[in-house]
Amino acid sequence: MSSQTNIDICASTEIEEGGKGKRFPVTVRGDDTSGFVVRYGGQVYGYLNRCAHVPVELDWFEGEFFESSGLYLMCATHGAVYAPDTGKCEGGPCTGAHLRKIMTVERDGRIYWRPDELVKAAEA
Ligand code: FES
Repeated sequence: MSSQTNIDICASTEIEEGGKGKRFPVTVRGDDTSGFVVRYGGQVYGYLNRCAHVPVELDWFEGEFFESSGLYLMCATHGAVYAPDTGKCEGGPCTGAHLRKIMTVERDGRIYWRPDELVKAAEA
């Protein structure tokens, strides 16, 4: 599959500004895992669903990535907080580290992601 392939995730209306995000299946070095998209400042941001501290998924409940203020993404395990637009850890055990970004495209009311050299499409 080419790196320019856009893979459909969901309708634009399914993710809320500073609120519920959406997970999608990916593979990384042959392991099935997930990515996620969130909306912040009107923009869509995509990341690998893997904390920069210990490689666990971030969401405490499926699709719940933001902490209560809606300003930071938070890891459910030890509470690391990440800036939604840069993926940089702004507080917690991995301060200064980054979430792995995934390229996203929003077009005609749908959100898509693009596989890259690390994050690949999950097998159907
Ligand atoms: S695993 Fe995310 S903060 Fe420790």
